[in-house]
Amino acid sequence: MKSLKKRIIEEGHALNKDVLKVDSFLNHQVDANLMYEVGTYFKDYFKEHGITKVFTIESSGIAPAAMAALQMDLKLIILKKQNSKILKGEVYQTTVHSFTKDTDYELTLSKKYIGKDDKVLLIDDFLANGEAAMGVARIIEEAGAKLSGIGIVIEKSFQPGRKILENKGYDIYSLARIARLDKNVVEFLD
Ligand code: G4P
Repeated sequence: MKSLKKRIIEEGHALNKDVLKVDSFLNHQVDANLMYEVGTYFKDYFKEHGITKVFTIESSGIAPAAMAALQMDLKLIILKKQNSKILKGEVYQTTVHSFTKDTDYELTLSKKYIGKDDKVLLIDDFLANGEAAMGVARIIEEAGAKLSGIGIVIEKSFQPGRKILENKGYDIYSLARIARLDKNVVEFLD
């Protein structure tokens, strides 16, 4: 997605070999027009996949996921990050480890918002190690539903997330794929 890459080049800050800050249009201030365009790309790519629901994880995935859901005329479900296990049986939960932030959380989804016939499109802002997406996949599998696609705004292709998800057979569509980061350096894959 040309306009996204342009914004990454113009406004992104590569802090080091691992982290790209994009606070001015994605993670802190959100450019709603850009997110709208992001939504059109996800809709175009996934329109033949029979998607019934759009999922994301709080919080930075919400803006692009909402735009995709709007364009696909589907409900958006936001999976929550809880600090501890909920013992009542009304939710699905799985522990997710974030390598970037070195923390664990309980990814949580109410059983009300998924059924076994659902075909889910997961949208997230970044793909790094794939831990969050794998957590969503575990929950969807436990619910007997299907993860039919994964839409990512910025993929750090030098980290293992894509490989791990591809090996599980998931269809991943990323709007910007980054081959390399270094202090003030951003290189795209294509
Ligand atoms: P993974 O799910 O692919 O394994 O990623 P990881 O746990 O390593 O990432 C943890 C958090 O850090 C996620 O946000 C992710 O979006 C964010 N993140 C990872 N790499 C980058 C990066 O290069 N730049 C930026 N800006 N963020 C990155 P989160 O904890 O879910 O927080 P939130 O912002 O969605 O609330």
